[in-house]
Amino acid sequence: MQKTKILIFGRIGQVGWELRHKLACLGQVTAVEYPEIDFTSPDSIRVAVRAAQPAILINAAAYTAVDKAESDQELALAINGTAPGVIAEEAKRLDSLLVHYSTDYVFDGAKQSPYVETDAPNPLNVYGKTKLKGDEAIQAVGGEFLILRTSWVYGARGSNFLLTMLRLARERSELRIVDDQIGAPTSSECIAQATADILSQLLTPAGGGLDGRSGIYNLTTTGETSWYGFAKELLTQSAAAFGIPVPNLIPISTSDYPRPAQRPANSRLSCQRLTETFGINMPSWEEALTLVLETLAEGASPDKPR
Ligand SMILES: NC(=O)c1ccc[n+]([C@@H]2O[C@H](COP(=O)([O-])OP(=O)(O)OC[C@H]3O[C@@H](n4cnc5c(N)ncnc54)[C@H](OP(=O)(O)O)[C@@H]3O)[C@@H](O)[C@H]2O)c1
Repeated sequence: MQKTKILIFGRIGQVGWELRHKLACLGQVTAVEYPEIDFTSPDSIRVAVRAAQPAILINAAAYTAVDKAESDQELALAINGTAPGVIAEEAKRLDSLLVHYSTDYVFDGAKQSPYVETDAPNPLNVYGKTKLKGDEAIQAVGGEFLILRTSWVYGARGSNFLLTMLRLARERSELRIVDDQIGAPTSSECIAQATADILSQLLTPAGGGLDGRSGIYNLTTTGETSWYGFAKELLTQSAAAFGIPVPNLIPISTSDYPRPAQRPANSRLSCQRLTETFGINMPSWEEALTLVLETLAEGASPDKPR
């Protein structure tokens, strides 16, 4: 039997890296990375897709430097806003499924409860605005797609809050962390696992493809915390695992930590639609964190005794 061809854009990003590992059993995975493909060049996207002829196209590439995007709007828009539309056109041409990742930052955070997929977006910053353009471009093309909206992504590799906190904890005795933005830290591993679970359902003979289930789905861990709460938990858990002393943590407000990009106060996303449609039950953010810290504690060495 021929293996399903899966093409991933973004081989070494946080989510892209995990996807390669989680999807290996589902098909023949090809993952491409900048500068082999460059999202500022629609032609490079088209060439890559036409060469691979995938049945499933996954876009894990994005311009994710939220603060830098404020002064780099054109590039952020090309990568986050325009490129997804080109990928969607190519996917439609091949009759393929497109899986794309979006963000809590498409919302302004003014809602007092978790956002659902039908809530009106109103991004506060350039990154969120460009990501929203990408979501809209994919929907306008009208092929088969899943837009998976996630939040506060971190993992054992890449550039993220968890690794920054672990570094700072070694360097400083006191850390001031924002305590008035609420969300769900979501590990890249959980995102990739949930993506694999959805795809494996669609690929079973009885799966029937998306069958009217194209659309936007929130995909985060369960529960909620602030950046301060996340830092406290991760440093407490990692003190035992790595012997790092826990610095004195001071909760501060967003206004005490001015950044170029404004962030939503409420980043909570309801995953009810994901659960009802695909039967996916995400772990709590604390459980997901423990797994990532275990991965870090194990290290990459194959010589480590088990
Ligand atoms: N990080 C978060 O907190 C967060 C939150 C919500 C949603 N998301 C979304 O989740 C998805 C995955 O995010 P992530 O955290 O895994 O991102 P990431 O680690 O920053 O990885 C982004 C990937 O995009 C690639 N890329 C950057 N510029 C490119 C270009 N011009 N052409 C082609 N590829 C390019 C990067 O390549 P290089 O490494 O070579 O630059 C990298 O492989 C994205 O759609 C993101 O918007 C992320």
